[in-house]
Amino acid sequence: MRKWLRRAAATLLSIILLVLVGVYAGAQMRLKHRYDVPLAAFSALMVLPGDEARRRALTFMCSGCHQEAGGVIFEAPGVGRLVAPNLGRVARAYSDDELARLVRHGVKRDGTGVIAMPSSTFAHIADEDVGAIIQWLRALPERPDAQPAQTEWGPLGLVALVAGEVPFEADHIPAVTPPARRPAELGRYLYETTCSHCHDLDTERAVEGAVAPALRIVAPAYAPEDFARLMRTGKALGERELKLMSNIARSDFAHFTDAEIEAIQGYLTAGETASD
Ligand code: HEC
Ligand code: HEC
Repeated sequence: MRKWLRRAAATLLSIILLVLVGVYAGAQMRLKHRYDVPLAAFSALMVLPGDEARRRALTFMCSGCHQEAGGVIFEAPGVGRLVAPNLGRVARAYSDDELARLVRHGVKRDGTGVIAMPSSTFAHIADEDVGAIIQWLRALPERPDAQPAQTEWGPLGLVALVAGEVPFEADHIPAVTPPARRPAELGRYLYETTCSHCHDLDTERAVEGAVAPALRIVAPAYAPEDFARLMRTGKALGERELKLMSNIARSDFAHFTDAEIEAIQGYLTAGETASD
């Protein structure tokens, strides 16, 4: 009886070990998967004043996630920690061509994919603005990493990787050819390159534990000055502080110019004919 038990325990243990090794190996394979996105030559169309390059980069939410020297995007016991790294440090290793590919295709220097960074939204960013982003990155001071500096995977995170539950942006890049310059339809362009990361125009969407409302339904309720106030201070109609939107508005969208905010609201309130 004892012998039988011992043998069963040994078998069980080896099965568990095999599963663990399998999960670990599968997760490593997923993380090391290389995307075949060829590197295209990128050259900036123009040099902007430094303040303007920075302002535009901030409206694309780069600093909201990456902070001054790296930010923790997600952390949960057993799952792991996802870090948006210190841009002043990591961008130095990248060429301009590699940065343009990273931003618009979600593919890192070594060909592996980024997680959680909204490149499927950034795929629409015009060359002009990718140039501004690169110019801003090149001007960032090299600061020491904020702690903790690195992404780490716990056992549940490894299982999620194997199960395909971890979103790699490179899998979701739309087939678009971004324009060289900001298009004349500025409101639509800014919606596509920022808001559409969370919002749809006509249907609401669950996002990060909140619900992002359909923008063509909520935006018309806002007078232009109230819409501008939401973008700049995060305060929604009725002085409401919103769960997710208020912080993003203050850290990122506060950098839109008045004309950009007007163009966005114009697009969201123009009726069906303005979109496809
Ligand atoms: C929603 C949050 C988010 C936003 C917005 C965001 N990033 Fe990231 N970024 C991340 C995360 C998370 C990683 C690390 C992903 C990983 O390790 O797979 C990352 C990785 C990077 C890397 C390093 C890639 C590497 O080799 O490790 C660079 C450079 C970068 N982002 C630049 C940018 C720029 C430029 C913008 C703005 C255009 C931006 N990011 C916007 C979350 C974000
Ligand atoms: C990272 C996700 C995210 C992005 C990007 C984002 N939003 Fe939101 N937004 C939300 C969520 C979630 C809500 C619902 C309120 C909440 O939970 O914060 C919201 C709410 C709103 C509301 C409704 C406010 C109210 O009266 O309740 C408006 C208007 C809005 N967003 C406009 C925009 C515009 C315009 C952009 C682009 C410039 C944008 N959002 C980009 C997530 C986002």
